[in-house]
Amino acid sequence: MQGIFLDDEGVKPFITEEEYAKMCKKVEKAHDMLEKKNGKGSDMLGWLDLPANRDEAEIERIKKCAERINKQADVFVVIGIGGSYLGAKAVIDLFDNTFSNLQSYSERKHPQILFAGNNLSGKYLRNLVEFLEDKDFAINVVSKSGSTLEPAVTFRTLKLLLEKKYGNVLAATRIYVTTDPEKGILHDLAVKNEYEMFKIPRDVGGRYSVLTAVGLLPMAVANINFEDILDGAQFASFVFNNRDVSNNDCYKYAVYRNILREKEKDIEILASYEPSFQYFIEWFKQLFGESEGKDGKGIFPAGVNFTTDLHSMGQLIQDGKRNIFETVINVQVDRSLIYLPEIEDNFDNLNYLAGKEIDYINKQAYKGTLKAHIDGNVPNMVINLEDVTEYNIGQLIYFFEKACAISGYVLGVNPFDQPGVEAYKKNMLGLLKEEEK
Ligand code: PA5
Repeated sequence: MQGIFLDDEGVKPFITEEEYAKMCKKVEKAHDMLEKKNGKGSDMLGWLDLPANRDEAEIERIKKCAERINKQADVFVVIGIGGSYLGAKAVIDLFDNTFSNLQSYSERKHPQILFAGNNLSGKYLRNLVEFLEDKDFAINVVSKSGSTLEPAVTFRTLKLLLEKKYGNVLAATRIYVTTDPEKGILHDLAVKNEYEMFKIPRDVGGRYSVLTAVGLLPMAVANINFEDILDGAQFASFVFNNRDVSNNDCYKYAVYRNILREKEKDIEILASYEPSFQYFIEWFKQLFGESEGKDGKGIFPAGVNFTTDLHSMGQLIQDGKRNIFETVINVQVDRSLIYLPEIEDNFDNLNYLAGKEIDYINKQAYKGTLKAHIDGNVPNMVINLEDVTEYNIGQLIYFFEKACAISGYVLGVNPFDQPGVEAYKKNMLGLLKEEEK
């Protein structure tokens, strides 16, 4: 069943029927390019069929490995950057307890999961090494290219720590590699040392790889039912493949955001009222930022966590330059069942809310903000997410991936490459190698 629905009431006042009809045609054309696989980067469309084309043996191996990791490690470190960690962190944060890493093992029921190799901070790595020194830990190094500097620096350091702690043979049983199926430094090292290795299909790019072992192994370690996520994504791959925009919420979203872009609204803010969506928003930012931002074009993807950021970014959104639009993820069902208590002295004058669910108060903040922002000339789309279940999150992941690819084609760019990322790498490596001389 469909668990996510687009509410376009807050965007309709900002566009004309003519604009809508014209953009629908462009989206239909983009749909055809994806279907016929004749658009830019069409050799990178493996993500489209990942949920349907499951490798059952690989899924079983992921589950077995997760069981092994759960037995052997108190801490599981996922080393990767960009698409090699954001999806896994996004999903784990959605389903884990908010304070999971502060809970005891018996409460959490899985190892602590830490993410590393996503920066070059000495402080971060030193603190990580110090934390791990007296812990039983295992690592999952994730890198499609196998040579990205950030994860490589962390992997080298933690590999050495494992080898010092357990000896080379046992250390090898605690190293899990997710990388290119055929080549690369990591691939070759994994073969040589017989590390457990998972393959990232060649035709799936980093930011579209959350439904491969890149995301599935860490999810499995966190006891997340990733098969339900795949089922949800598979369902989405049918419903969001309808060429008829009026019956496809994903394509409708692509239509609206591209009309807004053409009207100089070139910043999209993805908002949520649930802090656990923070990394989902980060995942979205990478997906759209790297896919659309090229050839001097693109919508700048931003993100906010409300109500927190209403006290930091709220002013600008309400009143600043009118070059923004918002997309809000609205979680409809909340299962926390926590109510504001009634107190005798009513010192804070909040007794008028006593007995109300905290989520009720959150929802009024959402409704009030939505109206204020629309009144302030910020077009708003709402993605209603019925409930945060694995099945619905699978749909949401696929929704954004598909909308991103369609939007990239409407924009006329290759949504599957990232040539601009090379510029900083080239300069950084040049500087590092110069030092060597
Ligand atoms: O989407 C992408 O391809 C990138 O963001 C990569 O995920 C990121 O640069 C990490 O690359 P790799 O997995 O090769 O280390």
